[in-house]
Amino acid sequence: MTGLVEGQTIALRGEDGKTHLLTLEGGSRKVKGLGVIDPLLTLSGKKPGESINLGVRTFTILPPRLPELIGGMKRSAQTISAKDAGFFITRLGIGENDVVLEAGLGSGGLSLHLLRVLGSNGNLISVENREDHAQTGLFNVETALKAWAGTTQHSCIIGDIVEVAEQLPQDIDAIILDLPDHVAAINAVSGRLKQGGRIGCYCPVSSQLEAAIEACEQAGLKIDWAGELMQREWSRASKGGMRPVNGPFGHTAFLLVALKI
Ligand SMILES: C[S@@+](CC[C@H](N)C(=O)[O-])C[C@H]1O[C@@H](n2cnc3c(N)ncnc32)[C@H](O)[C@@H]1O
Repeated sequence: MTGLVEGQTIALRGEDGKTHLLTLEGGSRKVKGLGVIDPLLTLSGKKPGESINLGVRTFTILPPRLPELIGGMKRSAQTISAKDAGFFITRLGIGENDVVLEAGLGSGGLSLHLLRVLGSNGNLISVENREDHAQTGLFNVETALKAWAGTTQHSCIIGDIVEVAEQLPQDIDAIILDLPDHVAAINAVSGRLKQGGRIGCYCPVSSQLEAAIEACEQAGLKIDWAGELMQREWSRASKGGMRPVNGPFGHTAFLLVALKI
């Protein structure tokens, strides 16, 4: 394995499991969570898997794979996590070369999952109505594409999804909506979906789910799946064996998948 070179983006994983993304650029700078560091001087020639000490803390150098990009990303709006993003990707059948629309971009959490599977000829179109959220989301998307040397096409339209619907292409393979109001968005964009394409809605509360189901049915879409995914982590018990970890059993959102036929 060759050593790290100028311009490369890598992840530093602390002993607490926290991940920090760093691009090998020259010059001392203050990096949140790492202190003052000259990334190029500190990391040049080192290899993924090696450890470095920064002050009293030890970090492991890791390649910037999806979990590292998600762990080290900037956050403004709430993100869609691996549990729900993975389900959407599979149940909407999203893969190489697809054209995918997402609204809103938010912090770009879902975008990173999508960009990882769309391949070199895929096209992700994000819509976001808040400039500040778009700034964070686009920073995360650009960091990921650079780290992966990805050539997936990505564009972001700033505006309300309903108002910009006319600018969207016809024949979109998949649409994912993570918005406070799904109904207006479903009405505005479902006509852009390909025959056999699917729309996914991320609905934190059940009233949103119900409204989204009604809107999809009225738009002539067939409900494929509606529900919630539960996730429970296990760890080693102090006296041996494995057991579910203590802690709250959290809720993220209700998910809806609807098909255009
Ligand atoms: C929960 S966040 C999306 C998070 C994103 N899915 C992620 O994983 O990082 C919802 C975003 O939708 C944006 N939004 C809300 N209403 C919108 C609309 N009508 N059109 C476009 N964007 C909208 C918000 O500004 C916010 O950034």
